[in-house]
Amino acid sequence: MKNKNAKQNMKFSKIQKHIPVIIIACAVLITGAILFFSSDDVDKVKVSREAFVSEFTGAYVEDIEPNGNIVEMDMTASEGEVEIFDGYKTKVWSYNDTVPGPEVRVKLGDTLRLNFTNDLPQETTIHFHGVRVPNAMDGVPGVTQDPIKPGESFVYEFTPKDAGTFWFHPHVRTSEQVERGLFGTLIVEDDVDQKYSQDIVWVIDDWRMTEDRQVYEEFNTPMDLMHDGRWGNVMTVNGKLNEVLDVKPGERIRLRMVNASNARIYMPSFKNLNAKIIAVDGMYVKEVFDFGELELSPGNRIDIDITIPQDADGQVFELVDNFGREEIKLARIEVAGQAVATPEFNFPVNSEVPDWTGASDIEIDKEYRLNARRKTGEGMGMMGGIEWTINDKAYPDYDPYTFKYAEFNTMRFTNESVRLHPMHLHGQFFKVIARDGVPVSEPYFRDTVLVYPNQSVDVALVPLDKGLWVNHCHILEHAAAGMLTAVEVK
Ligand code: C2O
Ligand code: CU
Repeated sequence: MKNKNAKQNMKFSKIQKHIPVIIIACAVLITGAILFFSSDDVDKVKVSREAFVSEFTGAYVEDIEPNGNIVEMDMTASEGEVEIFDGYKTKVWSYNDTVPGPEVRVKLGDTLRLNFTNDLPQETTIHFHGVRVPNAMDGVPGVTQDPIKPGESFVYEFTPKDAGTFWFHPHVRTSEQVERGLFGTLIVEDDVDQKYSQDIVWVIDDWRMTEDRQVYEEFNTPMDLMHDGRWGNVMTVNGKLNEVLDVKPGERIRLRMVNASNARIYMPSFKNLNAKIIAVDGMYVKEVFDFGELELSPGNRIDIDITIPQDADGQVFELVDNFGREEIKLARIEVAGQAVATPEFNFPVNSEVPDWTGASDIEIDKEYRLNARRKTGEGMGMMGGIEWTINDKAYPDYDPYTFKYAEFNTMRFTNESVRLHPMHLHGQFFKVIARDGVPVSEPYFRDTVLVYPNQSVDVALVPLDKGLWVNHCHILEHAAAGMLTAVEVK
């Protein structure tokens, strides 16, 4: 007892002896803290919404002056047949009798006029995914237009504002109509395209088929709804089981990939072939990066720049998917012939893509919580008694919100479920600024971002396109079961 007290006294007197030192140390710490926090204040001044808007200025145009050239085409959606498996006719719904539908190509500045006719047994519309169209051309029934009835026509006309890889698909009973084969691509070319030896589009799709090679006609099954939507058992690229691109050694290829699947997510890469990603969701990246590390969720596009090695004659490069446990072969490049000189030019990047460093310090303007619930008062009906909700609402019930036009806006997707949700916002491009609260800097814009189970993803945008735009999960079964909301830009 006594001993212990003595020890304590000793300690006390030691502390007393060190008081001057402690005072100095405290003073240093306090001064340091003041300096630290004031320099942080200086950063805070830089990290302002206004500063982010000025950093964004020039990243993409607000509007485009049409060049006067009108690209006019007729397009009909109808029932038909295609041959996916040798010797089998598969019944599909298609645009102009092919799956994928037409590869529509316009030059930046051209106006597209699409005379569309619905010959389907159902209502439909066309949505141009990723294209900043005038709101009335966005193709969303009940939001931007009335559904087009069987036998009726509608003219879609607009001047795309951005060059890049886009696609189009119905926005009525989308999970059924896309699965049956209704989708096509819209390529908006700029001057860079001609520089490549070849400019190719690969539309990746998966189908759920029956043993007799027909589209399995139960859509939005309880299984699909409770899980990650309808994953198929047949994979096609450009409607083929074995798509092959023939190239010569030395060629430089622009390859545009689109995921038109209802729900399947891919992690695509080439075996033994280096490729750089030059564009994501249509828009050029700020810095190229390796192909093979970015998921291709439903709705996403990735453009890659590939140089075929000079000594590659006779080689085969396989495009494989590694998202799931098993590697899946999707398509391949076959090299043959005399080597050609490789076109030399810089990667077509967009140096104006903002970094938005520190953007995750800005308050979140709007949170969207993603979840599922049992439908009340219903048994196991077509929707399996499940609905997918955003902020506890299932569309057509939704939580309205307004983004401030031309200002810096932020939103958070909080996935409260154990399922995948590739979230797609119409009419705008955004940048991911944080995942699970950790700042990230992706050197590109997107229009669709995959949110993993229980993850939160923060994004920022400066909306330049006014109107009412939907914001939904691109797993089409989830959207069909309510996971859709709408945001106004004004
Ligand atoms: Cu491809 Cu509403 O989307
Ligand atoms: Cu979803």
